[in-house]
Amino acid sequence: MAPNIKSAYLSAEGYEFQLEQELQGIIGRHGQLFLTDCPLQKVFWAQNVWHNPAIHAIDSINHAARTLKGVQRNWCCYAVDLHRRSTLIQEKLRHVSGKPLSFPSDLPKASLGSWTLLDKDTMLAASDCSSPFFNGEVLFEEDKTGPPNRAYLKLWEGFTLMERHPQDGEYCIDAGGSPGGWAWTVAKLGAKVLSIDRTPLDDTVMNLSNVEFKKGNAFNLKPEDHDCVDWLLSDVVCYPEKLLEWVKHWVESGVARHMIATLKFQGGADYSIANKFAAIPGSCVQHLYHNKHELTWMWKKESK
Ligand SMILES: C[S@@+](CC[C@H](N)C(=O)[O-])C[C@H]1O[C@@H](n2cnc3c(N)ncnc32)[C@H](O)[C@@H]1O
Repeated sequence: MAPNIKSAYLSAEGYEFQLEQELQGIIGRHGQLFLTDCPLQKVFWAQNVWHNPAIHAIDSINHAARTLKGVQRNWCCYAVDLHRRSTLIQEKLRHVSGKPLSFPSDLPKASLGSWTLLDKDTMLAASDCSSPFFNGEVLFEEDKTGPPNRAYLKLWEGFTLMERHPQDGEYCIDAGGSPGGWAWTVAKLGAKVLSIDRTPLDDTVMNLSNVEFKKGNAFNLKPEDHDCVDWLLSDVVCYPEKLLEWVKHWVESGVARHMIATLKFQGGADYSIANKFAAIPGSCVQHLYHNKHELTWMWKKESK
């Protein structure tokens, strides 16, 4: 196995191709984990990034566990094969709760390292990883009855990563909102939401007292018509170029305080547009655990 690993990147299942395309210096692959000989790279499609992973020769399960404990307290295993041996090592480490979050919750604060067995006698371990969640999997206690679809999960994830969410009485715009998973999420938080779509919301969402629905083209909504929008959300199915032009107008206006938008891609897409979103000051772009063939752009207005 490659000896000079400087950083490693865990891909979301099914999005290995996208991650492989954007990474430099790949010297190996272990399941969904791409190993590179380059220092840390800014990528959009990784679910977890392992900073400075170290290779350890191990001669027993106890030795592996002792080695990890000597580095830090909390570890998560990424097992590709050797499942039995991996489990026995992990069982000797401090128990870390990986139970699903109840939304809204704070981000886990404890630092969480990741390790894997490259072969029976070789362990790769990184004490510093980008995600505080096990292998970047942001699991929630799901609501199977309230929302009309599962789209609320990616919005919950976005709010959790941003460490903020709409507050009671705040004003939100939900572009491309049907059937209403996002509007339901925002309404449940006590905020007022204007949802715009070409097709109506599900009745259960439409009937919520703090949800207003407008039928039409979301891109006709202009900042000039609003004093303050606490959250501008977009899940519109459209070309990312069109979305970029629209959100830039909102950013420049100063009217919106926060934005979250999904950049949706067609098969064989050119993903370089994500760099233009990421270049907007105050932005973060990443493939969320709950995203499919899309990236999420999260933006906070910078204080002057
Ligand atoms: C992925 S769905 C949104 C799901 C929604 N966020 C939820 O939580 O239920 C995308 C929506 O974008 C809407 N849409 C596409 N183009 C639009 C446009 N120009 N203006 C408004 N809505 C649009 C579609 O009608 C569709 O309902």
